[in-house]
Amino acid sequence: MEGEEHKAWRVILPRLVVARHDPGRTEKGIAMEFVKVASASDIADGALVPVEAKGVKLLVTKVGGTFYAAQRKCPHLGFNLCRGKLEGRSVVCALHKAKFDLTTGKIERDPKFLFIDMKARNELAVYPAKEEDGAVWVEI
Ligand code: FES
Repeated sequence: MEGEEHKAWRVILPRLVVARHDPGRTEKGIAMEFVKVASASDIADGALVPVEAKGVKLLVTKVGGTFYAAQRKCPHLGFNLCRGKLEGRSVVCALHKAKFDLTTGKIERDPKFLFIDMKARNELAVYPAKEEDGAVWVEI
């Protein structure tokens, strides 16, 4: 016989799985739309800039004239990725050096602390970004 505890997980788990891929939309039940997050002149090439859209904390960066947006919290343990660094079109977390592709969100390198190898929990949530009318817009 199934306990009440198990029933609760059957309801919660699918929501968590969906939210991992698109936290801003699914957690708040908001339709995707482009939201202005910054003036384009405020985002220097190679800078990791904190912004917020629909209550979701994001980072925006520009690489070779193209804008990218992603969740600001590292999927490993939640460190602020704006304090990390760019390597090409990837962001490297400053805390345990996990590396995430900003175009796909894929994990390119798992975290490591001294000699201890760890696993990133999830891929990075990434969002379409564009420049229009002198502003940076993120679809969220
Ligand atoms: S918190 Fe980012 S790699 Fe550990």
